[in-house]
Amino acid sequence: MTTQVLTERVKSLFKEKYGSAPLLVQSPGRINIIGEHTDYNDGFVLPGAIDRYIVSAIAKNDSTDQCRVLAADMDSEIQFSLSDVRPSEKGSWQNYVLGVVSEIGKRGVQLQGFDIVFGGNIPKGSGLSSSAALENAIAFGLNELFDIGMSKTEMMLLSQKAEHNFVGVQCGIMDQFASMHGKSEHVLLLDCRSLDFTPVTIDFSDCEILLINSNVKHSLADSAYNNRRKSCESGVGILQSVFPEIKALRDASEDQLSEVKEQMDSDTYKKCLYVVQENNRVQEAVKAIKNNDIPLLGSLLFQSHAGLEHQYEVSCPELDFLVEKARENSSIFGSRMMGGGFGGCTINIIKKGAAQAFVASVEEEYTLKFDKKPSIYNVSLTNGTSILESVKN
Ligand code: GLA
Repeated sequence: MTTQVLTERVKSLFKEKYGSAPLLVQSPGRINIIGEHTDYNDGFVLPGAIDRYIVSAIAKNDSTDQCRVLAADMDSEIQFSLSDVRPSEKGSWQNYVLGVVSEIGKRGVQLQGFDIVFGGNIPKGSGLSSSAALENAIAFGLNELFDIGMSKTEMMLLSQKAEHNFVGVQCGIMDQFASMHGKSEHVLLLDCRSLDFTPVTIDFSDCEILLINSNVKHSLADSAYNNRRKSCESGVGILQSVFPEIKALRDASEDQLSEVKEQMDSDTYKKCLYVVQENNRVQEAVKAIKNNDIPLLGSLLFQSHAGLEHQYEVSCPELDFLVEKARENSSIFGSRMMGGGFGGCTINIIKKGAAQAFVASVEEEYTLKFDKKPSIYNVSLTNGTSILESVKN
């Protein structure tokens, strides 16, 4: 569904259900060129917002504390009172919304009754961060509607807290950041410790970015994500006993890691080594992009995937297959799984005009092998969360 059609749909549903003229907010999904599972290690990432959105329509109602939220794509509506905001069933869409409302309450802000309709064209469970886009859309909308005065950075941090406290995923900041701060035609080199970021122009002249969705649904809430985070923390604990200055894996070098190798179990060592190496690859990738060295950038992507597959162990056979096929294709410079893992998309850097032939060749084999079809997305880099239409209009 195009974003225009989506917007019209959300708008007319709002009118039909709740009657008043809403504020319209759009919040994009994201890709990540490189830097996977580095964000919660205070490291670097290189994401960008894409032209796939959650659009939400939001307006105050007449009540002091009654709220209604309609998820248009699921045809599911909830009603709740602001005096009783609690997490809903695990895995439900409601926690993204309720989590944001709860975090705003924790800031001491007194909201009043409101209604929301939202819908999206970011494929769910595809590693394109539809959940962060939803959280940001709600935070941004409420901030505007109730004149809360939060900055974009405060809103993205609030969205992240909603995910920690209501969804139960101890995620890093990359997704909420990219969706909130995205910049058209750029990816953003983010230092996840200081939250400083630098836009990096993406203009691959004769190459483009191709996303292939394995259509394997990942479930980030699965303990695997939180477990990886714990492994990293336990690695840092061991490193600190010898190098007290190390506060997170971002501060550790491969040499320091090998000095404490004997004190770590082999799995923790492997996970920590991946993070240290991936963090270095982000810096190398930025240099490669600036020098327009696409072969180098591509090889960093392949290395990243190998690390995610063998060291960090967050890939799956479908993603490995897609990357392997990309590796065998001379029109593709680099490919890797993207996002939290266990499903979702691969990101590929491919020669312009070569996508169709590659997709045709891989699609048949993939379908035969895994009994499901992959999906293909062409995306453009876009601006972050913003108002589409204010109430005054
Ligand atoms: C998910 C999380 C992010 C990040 C990625 C892996 O998308 O939400 O914070 O950790 O996984 O890079």
